[in-house]
Amino acid sequence: MSFKLTEEQLMIQSMVRDLARSEFAPTAMERDRTKEFPAENLKKLGELGLMGMMIPPEWGGSGADTVSYVLALAEVAYACASTAVVMSVHNSIVCESILRHGSEEQKNRYLKPMAAGEILGAFALTEPNAGSDPARQTTKAVFDGDSYVLNGSKRFTTTGKNAGLVIVTAKTDEALRHKGISAFLIEQGTPGMTVGRLEDKMGLRASDTADLIFEDCRIPAQNILGNEGDGFLIAMTGLDGGRIGIAAQSVGVAQAAFDAAVQFAREREQFGQAISKFQGLRWMMADMATEIEAARLMMLSAAEMKDNGENFTLQASMAKLFASEMVNRVTAHAVQIHGGYGFTREYPVERFYRDARVFTIYEGTSEIQRVVISNHIFKDKRKP
Ligand code: CAA
Repeated sequence: MSFKLTEEQLMIQSMVRDLARSEFAPTAMERDRTKEFPAENLKKLGELGLMGMMIPPEWGGSGADTVSYVLALAEVAYACASTAVVMSVHNSIVCESILRHGSEEQKNRYLKPMAAGEILGAFALTEPNAGSDPARQTTKAVFDGDSYVLNGSKRFTTTGKNAGLVIVTAKTDEALRHKGISAFLIEQGTPGMTVGRLEDKMGLRASDTADLIFEDCRIPAQNILGNEGDGFLIAMTGLDGGRIGIAAQSVGVAQAAFDAAVQFAREREQFGQAISKFQGLRWMMADMATEIEAARLMMLSAAEMKDNGENFTLQASMAKLFASEMVNRVTAHAVQIHGGYGFTREYPVERFYRDARVFTIYEGTSEIQRVVISNHIFKDKRKP
């Protein structure tokens, strides 16, 4: 790969690769079956400073750059995509949003335990009737004395059950569209916030995806993140970073599927020779390798732009769009190369295929990424 990585970035990549392949990969298949939350994996990531990777050391984080972060995330996804999605939402949406918009008191209170992995973060934006169009959410937060009182419900919240802290968006002014949305920090166990239905998903089965229900949930006024009306901007800015993380998850799962396919093609014999000798499969694998390389470079380039303080909204959407569609093609080919075995639970490629399916959906569907990209083509750049 031509992208120039520093010694430190290579060291982080190699450390996480060793950890994830030796400790996370062996249990991933079983977790997929039992849906057991990867708490031990996340604890190890916390101990190694990988749960507050981009948080500066003064707040207990590692102060790493985004390039290091996406390299680490891709390695975790290679081994266990369920662990990777929890790491991704926690690091790139929740920790970064608190760092960017939080008060001193909020940073002091939450960032250290979050960076240590002792508190996991979740981000609750989506509602049953507001997915791609979050401006139409209907959860309300009414100011009352020294508190806000929340009513409504959120859907598809990654880590909604296991998170200790949730960033929840709600309307504080119904008359306004996106400018009437605010964001709040709500601790798990706060009276009035309950975990509702847990989704029984096709993939990423060990990560929980929950409904959160708010019934007269009263929280102190100082739990607002940023100012009233900042919620949509906080969500969009968080999702910009999050989308590079989805590209990283896609690259990791695609590489795992590719490596499995290459190994299988070398070992499997038909017509008196390894199936890797057949041009039909060789060309399929050449395309897979090329697409993974392209996605990896887009992921790194978007991450580097973020590190340089440039506006990276467009590049994050492009990386997310291309990488998530790429991994769906690559995992489908990996299943095909495995033939009948690819359709069984004996080999990991069927799990990679299922895990990858949501990557073109969550944190903005492919269609939403095309909206963002085409808006950039036809309009001036949006403000950061
Ligand atoms: N950065 C900064 N500001 C942004 C921005 C960005 N990336 N995107 C939009 N904005 C700003 C705009 O500049 C505009 O500001 P002004 O009003 O001051 O001009 C404002 O936000 C509204 O922008 P739009 O009018 O373009 O907003 P819209 O309502 O038309 O929608 C959208 C834009 C891109 C479609 C957006 O709604 C979107 O991204 N939708 C997808 C939501 C999504 O990704 N949901 C996934 C949720 S999380 C999840 O999947 C699960 C999980 O657990 C993580």
